[in-house]
Amino acid sequence: MNIIRVADEAQLSEKAAAMIAAQIRKKPDAVLGLATGSTPVGTYQELIRKYEAGKLDFSGVTTFNLDEYVGAGPEDPHGYMYFMRKQLFDHVNIRKEQTNIPDGCCTDAAAECEQYDRRIRAAGGIDLQLLGIGANGHIAFNEPAEQLIYGTHKEQLTASTIAANARFFRDKSEVPTQALSMGIGIIMEAEQILLLGGAGKQRIIEQMLASEITTRLPASLLKLHRAVTIIYIAQ
Ligand code: F6R
Repeated sequence: MNIIRVADEAQLSEKAAAMIAAQIRKKPDAVLGLATGSTPVGTYQELIRKYEAGKLDFSGVTTFNLDEYVGAGPEDPHGYMYFMRKQLFDHVNIRKEQTNIPDGCCTDAAAECEQYDRRIRAAGGIDLQLLGIGANGHIAFNEPAEQLIYGTHKEQLTASTIAANARFFRDKSEVPTQALSMGIGIIMEAEQILLLGGAGKQRIIEQMLASEITTRLPASLLKLHRAVTIIYIAQ
């Protein structure tokens, strides 16, 4: 594991964006795994800046997002496709048909999840997977549990995740309780993984680094991967 401690959000975003940009320059048709949430917002802003400065071309890039709330369609302002468009896709020259996210409004979740994994494989697999981390150690929405699931699947969100997500909603009762989430196995198949720990995540990152590998702390499984970089804010 390559561990990079930074002092603040600006450094985190700058370093993360530099790594993603390097991947795109090395392989213009790169397949990126992307995350939502607060942590990657600054990184996406840095990528937009590089694009606007003529230093980055997204025209060949394909993306697969980690997760989507059950019940959220692409136009839902609380949905993650909407988030991705506002935070990144609408501001760069990525081809919209090359951006992928599980369909939270599908009628058959099992079929949708299976098809999502097939699409990732058909694209040649993920070159670089960007991850945030939950305060409980989840990656994507793989919540701490006795067992973890390999492929994309429907996940019941824990009370602490629902409480953490409530900041984006008017009322706690509106927060979705389920999501379609990439599974741990699919995440681990990425060539390279970049885990970001923004403000408030130092404790869980350091707990994960010290921890044994356990499904009770899903991010600890990343220790089994050969090419993980962790960038986190350490005070
Ligand atoms: C988001 C995702 C989640 C978040 C995590 C941290 O697509 O899969 O695992 O990365 O919950 O969220 P923030 O960055 O909002 O603290």
